[in-house]
Amino acid sequence: MNSTYSFFVKLVLVQCLVIACASQVYDFFYLVQQWPGSYCDTSQGCCYPTTGKPATNFSIHGLWPNYDNGSYPSNCDSNDPFDLSEISDLQSKMQVSWPSLSCPSSDDTSFWSHEWNKHGTCSESVLTEHAYFQAVLNLKSKANVLQTLKNAGIQPNGGFYSLTSIKSAIKGGLGYNSWIECNTDTSGNYQLYQIYLCVDYYGSSFIECPVLPTGYCASSIKFPTF
Ligand SMILES: *[C@@H]1O[C@H](CO)[C@@H](O)[C@H](O)[C@H]1NC(C)=O
Ligand SMILES: *[C@@H]1O[C@H](CO)[C@@H](O)[C@H](O)[C@H]1NC(C)=O
Repeated sequence: MNSTYSFFVKLVLVQCLVIACASQVYDFFYLVQQWPGSYCDTSQGCCYPTTGKPATNFSIHGLWPNYDNGSYPSNCDSNDPFDLSEISDLQSKMQVSWPSLSCPSSDDTSFWSHEWNKHGTCSESVLTEHAYFQAVLNLKSKANVLQTLKNAGIQPNGGFYSLTSIKSAIKGGLGYNSWIECNTDTSGNYQLYQIYLCVDYYGSSFIECPVLPTGYCASSIKFPTF
């Protein structure tokens, strides 16, 4: 009787470890990159960070844990807030790749802090804060989407390009399908705002998206200058 009891206690403990305590708290990530020209030419406008005008390049918005059913976890651990000192070795690379364009002008850390607190804490059982930011930088350099688009003749010159040609350029260059989010400029033109790529549970490799976000985009969209 005693040993049966202890077997069940162990079973419950193991289930806690396997199912509840260390469960898969998300299924995959979206890596979201944004075009600064499309962030800035809207009615809301933008402010360059205190470090100056960002590079003419896609920049990181974030790496967002998501469920296969389309919903996502957020703000998962208020006891593990963003700590700049944990990523001081990555800071100069992050200033280049992950600038904040929101107003008022900032030194980027409030943007990174928001991203960690809202999204990063939901994958902290897999990636520590340092590992999370390092993973984002690695993924960004693996997916040089600006060069990929340029190679297909799609340039940030204020011209219009078909959504299909943008998606097939990315598929051809990176090997994976993407999802494009549009916003509108002050004249109401739909434009290339954000590119979503899907990433495996470990934050290391691109995968085909298990589920796509939703939103409207025209069939021919502007690629503004920056
Ligand atoms: C999606 O899946 C997650 C994890 O299994 C679950 O917690 C959540 O309630 C689900 N959401 C919907 C809308 O089904
Ligand atoms: C744009 O970013 C990619 C990925 O980080 C990098 O490889 C590339 O050199 C950058 N291009 C420019 C023009 O800054």
